Amino acid sequence: MTAVEVSDEDLQYGMTLLIYLRSKLRLTGSKNACNQGVCGACSVILSKFDHHTQKLRHVTVNACITPLYYVHGCAITTVEGIGTARDGLHPLQKNLVQSHGIQCGFCTPGMVISLCCLLRNNPKPTQDDVERAIEGNLCRCTGYRSILDSMNTFVDCPMGEDCCKRDIKKSETKEVVSEYQTADPTQTAIFPPELKKWQPDDQLWMTFGRTTWIVPTNLKQLQRAWSDNPGARFVAGATALGKLVKEYEEENLCFISCHGVEELQNISLSHMGIDVGAAATFTMMEDFFKTSKQSITETGKLFILQAFLDCIRWLAVDQIRNVATIGGYVACRALNLDMIALLIAMDATVNLMDSTGTCHNMKLENYLSDDQNAKELVLKVHIPFNNKYQYVSFQKHPQRRGDGFNGVSAAMTVDNETDDSMGHFTACFGGLTRNTVKIDTPSDLFKSLSFEKLEGVLRNRLSEEKGEVKEELLVVSLGFIRKFQDLVNEEGSFKELPGHIDPEPRRFNIVFDDAPAEQPPTDPVWRPIPQTTAEDLVAGQAMFIDDMPSYQNELHLCLVLSNKARAKIVSVDWSGAQSFPGVVDCIDHTAIPETNKWGLMACDEEMFASSEVVYYGQPVGAVIAKSPEQAASAAEKVKIEYDEMKPILTIEDAIRSDSFIDTTISRVRGEASKTFPDCDKTLEGTICTGAQEHFYMETIGAICIPKKEQNEIEIFVTHQGPTFIQSSIATCLQIPCNRVIVRHKRTGGAFGGKETQPVKICVPVALAAHRNNCPVRGVLTRKQDLAITGKRHPYQFHYKVGCNKDCRIQCLDVKVYSDAGCSRDTSPEVMNCTVDYIEGCCAIPNVTIEGRICRTNTVSNGSFRGFGIPQGCVAMETVIDHIAHTLNVSSKHIQEMNFAKTGFVPFTKLPIEDETMLKSWAQCQKQANYSQKDADVMAFNEKYKQKKRGLAMMPLRFQIGFPAPLLNQGNALVHVYLDGSVSLSHGGCEIGQGLNMKLLQIASRALGVPLSKIYTSENSTQTIANAVITMGSSTTDVIGTAVLNACTELLSRLQPVKERKPNASWEEIIRDAYFNRISLSVMAHGRPGDGGIFYYTYGAACSVVEVDCLTGEHQVLSTDIVMDVGRSLNPGIDVGQIEGGFLQGYGMVAFEEWKVKENGESPTSYRIPDVRSLPRDFNVTLLSNCPKKTMVYSSKGIGEPPLLLAVTVHKAIRSAILAARKDMGLTDFIQLDCPVTPTKVLEACHKKVPI
Ligand SMILES: Cc1cc2nc3c(=O)[nH]c(=O)nc-3n(C[C@H](O)[C@H](O)[C@H](O)COP(=O)(O)OP(=O)(O)OC[C@H]3O[C@@H](n4cnc5c(N)ncnc54)[C@H](O)[C@@H]3O)c2cc1C
Ligand code: FES
Ligand code: FES
Repeated sequence: MTAVEVSDEDLQYGMTLLIYLRSKLRLTGSKNACNQGVCGACSVILSKFDHHTQKLRHVTVNACITPLYYVHGCAITTVEGIGTARDGLHPLQKNLVQSHGIQCGFCTPGMVISLCCLLRNNPKPTQDDVERAIEGNLCRCTGYRSILDSMNTFVDCPMGEDCCKRDIKKSETKEVVSEYQTADPTQTAIFPPELKKWQPDDQLWMTFGRTTWIVPTNLKQLQRAWSDNPGARFVAGATALGKLVKEYEEENLCFISCHGVEELQNISLSHMGIDVGAAATFTMMEDFFKTSKQSITETGKLFILQAFLDCIRWLAVDQIRNVATIGGYVACRALNLDMIALLIAMDATVNLMDSTGTCHNMKLENYLSDDQNAKELVLKVHIPFNNKYQYVSFQKHPQRRGDGFNGVSAAMTVDNETDDSMGHFTACFGGLTRNTVKIDTPSDLFKSLSFEKLEGVLRNRLSEEKGEVKEELLVVSLGFIRKFQDLVNEEGSFKELPGHIDPEPRRFNIVFDDAPAEQPPTDPVWRPIPQTTAEDLVAGQAMFIDDMPSYQNELHLCLVLSNKARAKIVSVDWSGAQSFPGVVDCIDHTAIPETNKWGLMACDEEMFASSEVVYYGQPVGAVIAKSPEQAASAAEKVKIEYDEMKPILTIEDAIRSDSFIDTTISRVRGEASKTFPDCDKTLEGTICTGAQEHFYMETIGAICIPKKEQNEIEIFVTHQGPTFIQSSIATCLQIPCNRVIVRHKRTGGAFGGKETQPVKICVPVALAAHRNNCPVRGVLTRKQDLAITGKRHPYQFHYKVGCNKDCRIQCLDVKVYSDAGCSRDTSPEVMNCTVDYIEGCCAIPNVTIEGRICRTNTVSNGSFRGFGIPQGCVAMETVIDHIAHTLNVSSKHIQEMNFAKTGFVPFTKLPIEDETMLKSWAQCQKQANYSQKDADVMAFNEKYKQKKRGLAMMPLRFQIGFPAPLLNQGNALVHVYLDGSVSLSHGGCEIGQGLNMKLLQIASRALGVPLSKIYTSENSTQTIANAVITMGSSTTDVIGTAVLNACTELLSRLQPVKERKPNASWEEIIRDAYFNRISLSVMAHGRPGDGGIFYYTYGAACSVVEVDCLTGEHQVLSTDIVMDVGRSLNPGIDVGQIEGGFLQGYGMVAFEEWKVKENGESPTSYRIPDVRSLPRDFNVTLLSNCPKKTMVYSSKGIGEPPLLLAVTVHKAIRSAILAARKDMGLTDFIQLDCPVTPTKVLEACHKKVPI
């Protein structure tokens, strides 16, 4: 690889490294998924030569929040510099391909960068190093296991002979594993020699538009720059400031960056304490503290260093720690940041300098509470060593580790009394209130005081704080004290606090059948072959919508969104936007008076709000400008006057206001109401599930190119359903569908969220392109995407169940409410699925279900992987657990007593065949070693009070195919070219689920042609008309049938040639056929099934969870899954779907919280599971010998079903909480709404600290 030197005179203000790479250099491998520094999709490696150590330093940074000036003197490696599909991939890229670590591929370049940087710094990393390296890289598709597996050859597996790679002996993966690559150092980019020689003597002075950035290299230069620019603002890592850069767009500003000032980077240790220069990054601090620990012997000092190491370990992620500085950290003056509590507890001081060069020290506590010194430069932070016998600990309680802004953190110290001084217990809490809360008591009191009295001390202190303190946060804080007290009290010795991460190494085990021995090696079906474009994705070459090159006269569209949830629009003043530089057009509902309404099943949502807004974030119009920045800034200038009304924001509000969509959806079997009186037990309860955001990594976007003839337009869009987009655009523009060509190569994740929602940007973009006769691009920012796209429906279930002492359920009555948001979308269809599936794998003789769909003033909710079934599954498993708890038997026993047997007809109308369900159930128990785990969990719970474990199993039945026959159809088009190569087009969308690969495998076997000869380029309405939306896990069945039909037809056309020339090659047959005027193009239709659902996919799972009752956190210790996917067409892809689906389901039940504010505003950021969320022991088996009803080549649909299995985690957490409650004397059942956040766990533990 060679480096490229870039020289550029035309820099725009505030341009981040990511914008520069993508827009200026057209290096689009680095992706923009969040633009907030939280997902790692934009990761790049910065390499710098350290003249002191004479070594190269490589670090990862998030390019989306890295200002351009920051990279002065650095070599930047983007994914394009790691390896390319054409010139050769890096071994780690090859491994990622082989391990199926790529699904949609949007996160992949960022992953490659983080892993590559790790290997550059440490060619033999540990398993934990690998996990740490990608903690800041989010993936919504894979479930991370396959990504970790790709690093196996670089890591010394701590399991030795037990290594999971050796466990897969029976599966075909062993062939894949043997192809794994080890590192090849010659493939590492050469560090540019010019940069090695470059001495950072001269300060950098850069001007971007009206802003100046000065980057001094020593303190003298900094002082001079400051005196020349007295109003200048300091900056360092820019992680806090970088996000705000836009705010200063219209001002003349000057920033002085401290990050390169040599004197400010020093960290030194003396007997007095540690001095950390303001420009030292957290990574530098961590390295220094780790090294210093080796030379220190006094325990007190060691505790201090360890507490800082514990704090830094979970403060943000590598990409942030590599640039964020301690100076910037304290100068943020945010009292809820993690380390602030620790620094205050340690009595840290700051060394400040004013503009005259006068320096003074100040207690950090005073610095933070007094704005007077805000303009001064932080030179260093001093951490004193007060007392050599001091015990110190740091604890953190975030929503997700690695990005914990909104949790509580606590630092505690206790001094031993000496002859002449009294020791103290000091505790500082961040995140409990807006201030850092400090309590201080004599240390002997701490040791002798009862926990209740300490609680009193904290409550007393909190009574001085303004504003209410959340009880759950208080409980977390008390839990921290409890933990600390336990440790200190242990006979004077202070144990190291147990870390959050289980020290046990992770174990993964994947089992599936080999292809039959007699199957020819050229036949790709039933083999774990990586996705077709995996090599392009891993190299960052594969293009997503916003990676497409700009058109010469391209314009950019930004939507104008409402900031009221429910209001009449009094007036809209567009003048500010219209006069903004670069603005070309503004559009609103008046541009489409006849066709302003849209919807999939009914047109009940306005494209642009006309007279009233019905949710916060609803598009009111759009601004079209020459650059995306101009469009975004101008959109903010639009002034809308509203007449506000009280919004309906929740299901409760809707029920109160009688605000519903459609009528009640009911299901009835037998006579539930008449049966209740005869039951031994009747139980009632309510369980709720919250909204879940799709968080596909590629936000919705479109580029529309109007053609100059006959109103023709072409639109490239990220989506799941071309036909709906085509017809919505045609309707809006009042042109026929045959003028609208919708094109699509791939989508960076969808999960149901791109079925209908892309219309919200496609139609405005098409309208703008049509009006202005120019190509128009519109790509939603993450914030906009979160605001305007629908989520998984929140649900409420009110159940009444009757059962007998023999554990058989006799009757069930459920009232179901879903929150549809402001319009219909697919809500009634989703509700139909919920009520059809509510009894899960049980057969209940008497059932009454009534479903109501609430209309609220929130964004319209729609399809999401599982389509209403996961929520119903949570409800039914809650009912089962309720019965089990009441009858004092295991939940597994209730399940087994009520299993639906072969022939039972559930509400879906397709009779059950229980064979593979029972097989999966039995095999899962065996694989999980259920009985042993059950005993272990009971023993653990007997032994420990503050930590509890829970074990849960559940079976799975999921329909594949749609009850409405019209949805079970698809088309495929096969062209054979004269060189024998085959082009396969179809109506499905590749959204990361491996559809293209599976269809190519089908075509390859059907035609008897090697896989390498067949290619799928894109999905287009021009080649395939009227395609059904890619959804419901049935697209492979539907389109695969069409592919089979097309191939069969083609072969029958070629048969006469074959008969004439039995020994001819494929190429000769094709040429002969052409010369004999045989058409080599076939369009075929596929319509599998008998008109309704095709079959059920079955499975089972078992999970063990450990809950920390002091903090509410949990960890999934193990999950075992057994799935019946028939004979998997591609086990590599199917296992990936199972793991990814499970982790997404885990997010729904236990992690992801969508909290709409009181005014209806959506959150601007959202947390999804990261690599640490993966079960520590994760085993997936594809059931062997599944002979039952399937479709193409004995395979079954798999995309959605495994998501439901995550409900085992919900059940296991509940089981652990019930064990904790039992210890407290609380024996009643708890429903436990989803997601079970740490706060909910604490609430369920009765907001009590187990003592
Ligand atoms: C994605 C993400 C995740 C994060 N996660 C966590 C987390 O888990 N826990 C946590 O505690 N924090 C977290 N943070 C916050 C992070 O620690 C701070 O943003 C960072 O420490 C600020 O340092 P900086 O060098 O980047 O400051 P900058 O952004 O450069 O500056 C911040 C402020 O300090 C001023 N300033 C900078 N240097 C000086 C100086 N020497 N003298 C005077 N003023 C100065 C600037 O003017 C500005 O006002 C996270 C941040 C991000 C972006
Ligand atoms: S971290 Fe940069 S795009 Fe997400
Ligand atoms: S493969 Fe990671 S986000 Fe899709």
